[in-house]
Amino acid sequence: MLGICYYPEHWPETMWAQDAAEMYKLGIRYVRIAEFAWSRMEPNPGEYQFAWLDRAINTLADAGLKVVMCTPTATPPKWLIDLYPSILPVDVKTGHSRGFGSRRHYDFSSTDYFREAMRISTVLVERYGQHPAIVGWQTDNEIACHDTTHSGSTAALQAFRKWCQQQYLDIEALNSAWGNVFWSMEYRHFDEIELPILAVTETNPAHQLAFRRFSSDQVVRFHDEMVKILRSHAPGRFVTHNFIPMVDTQADNYALAEPLDFASFDNYPLGRSDLFFAKRGAAIFKPYMRTGHPDVSSYYFDQTRGLTGKHFWIMEQQPGPVNWARHNPRPEVGMVRLWSWVSFAHGADVVSYFRWRQAPFAQEQMHAGLKRVDNSKAAAWPEIEQLVTELALCPDLLQQQVKAQVAIVSTTENQWVCEIERQGESFNQQEVEFAWYSALRQLGVDVDFVSPEHDLTGYKMVLAPCMPVVRPAFVERCQASGAVLVFGPRTGSKTTEFQLAPNLAPGLLQSLIPVKVLSVETIRPDCAEPLFIGDAQFQSQCWREELEVTSDCTILARYHDGLPAAAQHQHSVYIATVSCDDFLKVLFTDLLKQAHVNTLQLPKDVRLARRGALHFLFNYSAEPTQVSVHTPVQWLLGSATLQGYGVAIYRQ
Ligand code: GAL
Repeated sequence: MLGICYYPEHWPETMWAQDAAEMYKLGIRYVRIAEFAWSRMEPNPGEYQFAWLDRAINTLADAGLKVVMCTPTATPPKWLIDLYPSILPVDVKTGHSRGFGSRRHYDFSSTDYFREAMRISTVLVERYGQHPAIVGWQTDNEIACHDTTHSGSTAALQAFRKWCQQQYLDIEALNSAWGNVFWSMEYRHFDEIELPILAVTETNPAHQLAFRRFSSDQVVRFHDEMVKILRSHAPGRFVTHNFIPMVDTQADNYALAEPLDFASFDNYPLGRSDLFFAKRGAAIFKPYMRTGHPDVSSYYFDQTRGLTGKHFWIMEQQPGPVNWARHNPRPEVGMVRLWSWVSFAHGADVVSYFRWRQAPFAQEQMHAGLKRVDNSKAAAWPEIEQLVTELALCPDLLQQQVKAQVAIVSTTENQWVCEIERQGESFNQQEVEFAWYSALRQLGVDVDFVSPEHDLTGYKMVLAPCMPVVRPAFVERCQASGAVLVFGPRTGSKTTEFQLAPNLAPGLLQSLIPVKVLSVETIRPDCAEPLFIGDAQFQSQCWREELEVTSDCTILARYHDGLPAAAQHQHSVYIATVSCDDFLKVLFTDLLKQAHVNTLQLPKDVRLARRGALHFLFNYSAEPTQVSVHTPVQWLLGSATLQGYGVAIYRQ
């Protein structure tokens, strides 16, 4: 249940056996290797050197460790780039080629790279697919990281033209779908189509959406082929991929995860919180500077679980300060243990730390490991020893399944629409979704993330915080679900081709809730206005829709001028503005009650998560705190009095 990321190629071979023995002794059972080792596997074209890798795998296996092998395609070596320079992607913001010298320097549309990546994957899996110590495979590494989904290359342009032809068949159909009569953008042939980049001012949003769909398809096509190759030579082994936060892949993550046995996630709570709260002041961010925000990691975990609907792995877990965020603080003592438990609570089956020993050289020398460069044990070590002892207290942990009563519907397609058309600088779809998620978690509610194609029956409440593109089948699934349905601003406002809903937003959803959005305004973040539920006052921020509401709707909230801001019709609710946490908590408390979902009053920095019968309490604050747990429960770890940065587990 614990793993480690190890780079035998970074260390003298004389250290391997002792490293492996120490890993095992610490309680580590899985070791991920080789994801960046192409230049050592194939130092010259076609000249393979695997003897060192054979010895590394055998050394790990001899110590009792199981190996997760990776395809090394995130780092094509220099000779390959020199042979085929067009492997390098082209920056869509500048039109310049992105250089060699870091990683992920490849273009998903390069046919040369496609062939070469599949070749090295085939060679590797033919050699190691049936190795008894290798239990599974990781594809590539953090696909799409460093903004690599989009490329402005000639190869991308040619492939995009072909893709458009396949999608629209007839150029007139494309012109009409995109509205190309506007600004004389009409094309006569598919081979006149440009990429929507480097233009004088904004390009057509429908064109941009098509390019994003195409680019995502290219990533999925590349990844699917790799999974196919691994599967054909590694029978009985799992295939997974280590995802970055879903919002950053710019790809359809559900499609990407489709052929995998399960998804994995790389968890860096401090760097991610620093990025997520970059625009917020110290009052909001500082309390979590060394703990990470209580909902940031779990937001990603629940999304990762949603990709396949199955439990997941943490393939990389931050063990101390990292090097890549805007600022890189040290975690509070106890947080590596707490984060690991949070992962298990949300459905992780393995937590694997990045990395065994800090690298003394190159880009990540300021990134902590479990060991320092002098081979001494770094700060996280005793926390992992403690965790190993505690894991033994929950022998049935992996048999327990996470199953939430509440689902958030989320897709990359809708993120794209909101990124392409911000309408107001401060509107951010991910922040809206996160605020809804965080409000639910603060009320002690577990959440699944699902795609609009997912069956919704069985959920008591389904929320779509911001989902501009709604298809008829989704409306039918909503209707069939019997759940309380909550739709947020922009939902149903666009067609699949990025045009306004002809019957006005929320478009097709008007069959569930008879409201119409007459106009939209966005306002500066420092110009929030009052928002009322009864007499209680909250804030309407950034985004505000003018609603026309029929008389059979109940008004749940009003703007400062008395106009409706949220309305309910039978089981469906429409919220027309972005608002503060307190507003969401008050509104959701009432709606969750209607849905027969229990809510809790938790101390501010405490979170509860359930994995089957196991209930986990986490305290993200330094202050001890008391949680009220009423019914008789069996405590497996800790108690209702939570220590600072404490974890407690009970069975119910
Ligand atoms: C991950 C990546 C690792 C390493 C790590 C540093 O994003 O997969 O290779 O770079 O970050 O935190």
